[in-house]
Amino acid sequence: MGNHLIAPSILSADFSNLKTDIEMINSSQADWFHVDIMDGVFVPNISFGMPVLKAISKYAKKELDVHLMIINPEKYIEKFAELGSDNITIHYETCNNLDDTIKIIKHTGVKVGVAINPDTDVKVLAKYINKIDMVCLMGVFPGFSGQKFIEKTFQRCSELRQMIISNNSKCQIEIDGGVSDTNARKLLECGANILVAGSFVFKSENPQKTISTLKNII
Ligand code: DX5
Ligand code: ZN
Repeated sequence: MGNHLIAPSILSADFSNLKTDIEMINSSQADWFHVDIMDGVFVPNISFGMPVLKAISKYAKKELDVHLMIINPEKYIEKFAELGSDNITIHYETCNNLDDTIKIIKHTGVKVGVAINPDTDVKVLAKYINKIDMVCLMGVFPGFSGQKFIEKTFQRCSELRQMIISNNSKCQIEIDGGVSDTNARKLLECGANILVAGSFVFKSENPQKTISTLKNII
């Protein structure tokens, strides 16, 4: 535990006042902006795409953690990198050749994340764990903010941490979906390094205070 990062998810922001919410995050204790890109094919929802990422990138003063919930991600990686992504996370389930997709991301110079859905076995990541910067372990089925956290994520996180340790890997663990003050500490104890939080931050009365609460868990 210690030194974990907080990545508020823009999906829960007020899109009619996006600049205000970006500035709120800029002046908060948050570390990254988590940006959810959904295609309505891999997930049953469409969020936003490149023009909105471009707008976020214009005002955001922290790293952009771009989570691609899209099929054929390899087609768009270069563009997302050009738009200012610092991390690009693709889904294991969407890649026919994950090794190639990892290489494409690395070639753009941004950090590589691989996300897995709650029903994908953590073990599938073993052969990639020394090639990627981060695993994004979903705490919900991707598509929507505000869903209930799936409890078996704790155990999956511990299993992933074991895999990382036994492979001598520097890979970080990000938890995305359903994160709140009721599970954050336990997730950190299970080895998480980065916590994404959407509705828990943006639906709270004082989002900056909520971000500090998550950041200051020791
Ligand atoms: C879910 C997205 C998440 C979402 C998290 O498909 O990938 O990043 O915004 O929202 P909460 O924290 O409300 O579950
Ligand atoms: Zn996400």
